[in-house]
Amino acid sequence: MDRIEFHIAARDGRARTGALRTPRGEIRTPAFMPVGTAATVKAMLPESVRATGADILLGNTYHLMLRPGAERVARLGGLHAFMNWDRPILTDSGGFQVMSLADLRKLTEEGVTFRSHVDGARHFLSPETSMEIQRLLGSDIVMAFDECPALPATEETVAKSMRLSMRWAARSRDAFGDRPGHALFGIQQGGVTRELREESAEALTAIGFDGYAIGGLAVGEGQEAMFGVLDYAPGFLPEDRPRYLMGVGKPDDIVGAVMRGVDMFDCVLPSRSGRTGQVFTRRGVVNIKNARHADDPRPLDETCGCPACRSYSRAYLHHVFKSGEIIASMLLTWHNLHYYQELMAGLRGAIAEGRLAAFAAGFAAERAAGDL
Ligand code: GUN
Ligand code: ZN
Repeated sequence: MDRIEFHIAARDGRARTGALRTPRGEIRTPAFMPVGTAATVKAMLPESVRATGADILLGNTYHLMLRPGAERVARLGGLHAFMNWDRPILTDSGGFQVMSLADLRKLTEEGVTFRSHVDGARHFLSPETSMEIQRLLGSDIVMAFDECPALPATEETVAKSMRLSMRWAARSRDAFGDRPGHALFGIQQGGVTRELREESAEALTAIGFDGYAIGGLAVGEGQEAMFGVLDYAPGFLPEDRPRYLMGVGKPDDIVGAVMRGVDMFDCVLPSRSGRTGQVFTRRGVVNIKNARHADDPRPLDETCGCPACRSYSRAYLHHVFKSGEIIASMLLTWHNLHYYQELMAGLRGAIAEGRLAAFAAGFAAERAAGDL
């Protein structure tokens, strides 16, 4: 099979469940993509990431072009071989990361010139160079090159930026060309303004993409404003194509977004929180640093099947975390990624069986009860 196909198996309200079929394997949706920015999901072996239930990882153009370099990755057989992950990889296109991480950025119609946050070297990213880098990496799902203004921004700034991103989307489409087995996703922008989200969706749909991302959210607007946008923004996008909400989010953000018609997510939260001692459980967030865990022989969550919960006590996890032991990051990251994948599996099952509203109510009630 050399085409990427999206199949919707069932719907419940605006939510959908199905699969994105790629030559490297199936991506069950709604899907959560763990973040492997620098060709690793930090503290996890790829086979362990797979064991949590992940079908796809996210990589970053920006980080990989700076270190180790896209040409080097290509010479070494591509990102899949390099990092030992043979399933699908989605790569973000770099523009968003340049704006938050790089030094001395200069934005023009052509693209962005910036200095590397690693060694200060000068680089240039544009729709054309981003498509070339993502091709060299061997990415399965390539993201269009876009721009997202820092908040707070005026509506005029957001509109100008969105229109630039739409011109870049057309250039991304031209530069990507026809690559059987690889998909190109466009990215909707437009901040929290309905008319701009609609204009952006129309521009992207006219160009034509294999999937559509919703960008420019979870940048500090808050959950209520984000849900406000998600009440209409997915509806402007083609119904038969996957919708990907970039950089989201907390477990309750994901549940709310799935109910509003989103199919794919990525976020550093489960992996990053694993390294800072924040643990996601069905009872909400637990901070393993807290002294109350020091003598607690119970697992983090007695219903969780992950290695951290099957074989270790809260007391042990508290101890290794407080001692700065590497295994603390490994176990807590594993647990958090397992929790996120279980949540996605729960959402998929609930949509398939037409009981998403009850699932969401149960999810909220368990969290409201708090950690035991
Ligand atoms: N990650 C989170 N938000 C965005 C966005 O708006 N654009 C891109 N390219 N990546 C993101
Ligand atoms: Zn666990």
